[in-house]
Amino acid sequence: MLDIRFATARNVSGAVAAVVPAADSSDDPAATRLAAVRASLARLKLGPADLDDITAFLLDVEHSGSAGTLHKLPRAGHRPDLLFFVGVGSGDEAGWRAAGAKLARSAGDEPTLTLLLPDDVTPAAVRGLGEGLWLASYRFRLGADEPPSLRRVNLAAARPSDPEAGLAADLEAGLAAAKVVAESTRLARDLTNMPSDEKTPAWFAKRVEKAAAGVPGLTVTVRDPKALAEQGFNAILAVGGGSTRGPRLVELSWRPRGARRHVVLVGKGITFDTGGICIKPLSGMKLMRKDMGGAAAVIGATLAAAALRLPVRITALAPLAENAIGADSFRPGDVIRHYGGTTSEIHNTDAEGRLVLGDAMAYAVRRLRPDTIVDLATLTGAQGVALGKRTAALYSYNDTLAKELTTAADTAGESVWRMPLHDDYADALDSDVADIVNSTDVGAGSVMAALYLREFTGPLRDQWAHIDMSSSAWSDSPDADLTKGATGWGVRTLLRWLETTT
Ligand code: BES
Ligand code: MN
Ligand code: ZN
Repeated sequence: MLDIRFATARNVSGAVAAVVPAADSSDDPAATRLAAVRASLARLKLGPADLDDITAFLLDVEHSGSAGTLHKLPRAGHRPDLLFFVGVGSGDEAGWRAAGAKLARSAGDEPTLTLLLPDDVTPAAVRGLGEGLWLASYRFRLGADEPPSLRRVNLAAARPSDPEAGLAADLEAGLAAAKVVAESTRLARDLTNMPSDEKTPAWFAKRVEKAAAGVPGLTVTVRDPKALAEQGFNAILAVGGGSTRGPRLVELSWRPRGARRHVVLVGKGITFDTGGICIKPLSGMKLMRKDMGGAAAVIGATLAAAALRLPVRITALAPLAENAIGADSFRPGDVIRHYGGTTSEIHNTDAEGRLVLGDAMAYAVRRLRPDTIVDLATLTGAQGVALGKRTAALYSYNDTLAKELTTAADTAGESVWRMPLHDDYADALDSDVADIVNSTDVGAGSVMAALYLREFTGPLRDQWAHIDMSSSAWSDSPDADLTKGATGWGVRTLLRWLETTT
């Protein structure tokens, strides 16, 4: 991962970046922007002629300072010989995140970059900057894209970073938080990008064990098919039945001393979704290695919470199965008895995610008895039809929880939109032979999936949120801090929420 550290502006070598605020609210925005840039550049001790050139350049390109806007000024024979001017918009965390992402892409060919931080830089700004730099420079190790050659970013702060004096401790904390976010998001991306021939349920479970090893306070329990059968996780077993690579249930637990609240995070972990006997066409199947993006996100967020030592107890549950086609596949018409006794009549083997989630949620409600339960799942194609590629669907009866999660997503640079849980739609889930059916033909596919999951929330119905993140788990092209492929969607939203919900 890119090496980002605080430094002084002395002896700068290599490219230099200065930030440009949008300054929209000032009387003379252009003058305010220039003054801000000149104040940062003062630390380079440039001569008046150099400063005049730079001013002329910025006026010429009409740098607006809007978040992520970048202009590049090569200066052959001068020091520094390359200057970047990047907009941070209003200067909030999102503006700095956009600036960091843009810099990672535009300065990718430079081995080192020195970024001049303004005197009034905040910890939130540094966090956004670090997230943008680290997330946009992510590459999957099996990917075709060359990794950027940018190795090192010096953050030149006016306030020297001296732990002893404690002068910039808050800025250091902002950068440290960004690093935790980036590392866990990158893990979630790695897991989701991994091809499904390697990514079996057992492989995923091993990766979680490896990531949690040696972290005090973190424990992992993995249930294999035998344990799942003994304990009644029949839906996980049914969905995984068609595959030679058996299902698992991963339980990752973070138990800090003195925690007052217990949150359970449940993530859908279908390591590949063929649709089962109700097989998908190729167009719908080819990207189905991403169908464990929810599991990757809840694992990533829990590891991040542990790294930040957040004072809230967290249990992440990842029901993992490959929805394959085989002699032991479950069938339309089957009736499955979930953990806890609820029965589902199978109308469509391609509605498998809700089945494994049902087992895990019932277990959480009955055995773990948390204060709050949040599940994340690549659950329905209908979600993307409703909300497009970058916004996940949020469902909850709890206005406070819904608002908290929405704010967390907004601050974290992700996006959710609250959707309705219409009670009268739930009649369509009625079954002649079981408690509920697993799929319906009444439309509103994402809403119906949420209403199905509601059946497993028991007494926690009002302390539950469901996020259908089908479309946002993947990006077809690089976009700001997202790279092409897996996005790690949800790690950031969940972590932000956990940071504020103690
Ligand atoms: N994993 C899919 C949903 C999905 C589709 C995620 C596209 C990401 C992108 C899920 O298991 C599924 O197949 N859902 C069905 C449900 C239907 C059979 C009720 C769907 O959306 O068509
Ligand atoms: Mn499916
Ligand atoms: Zn699926």
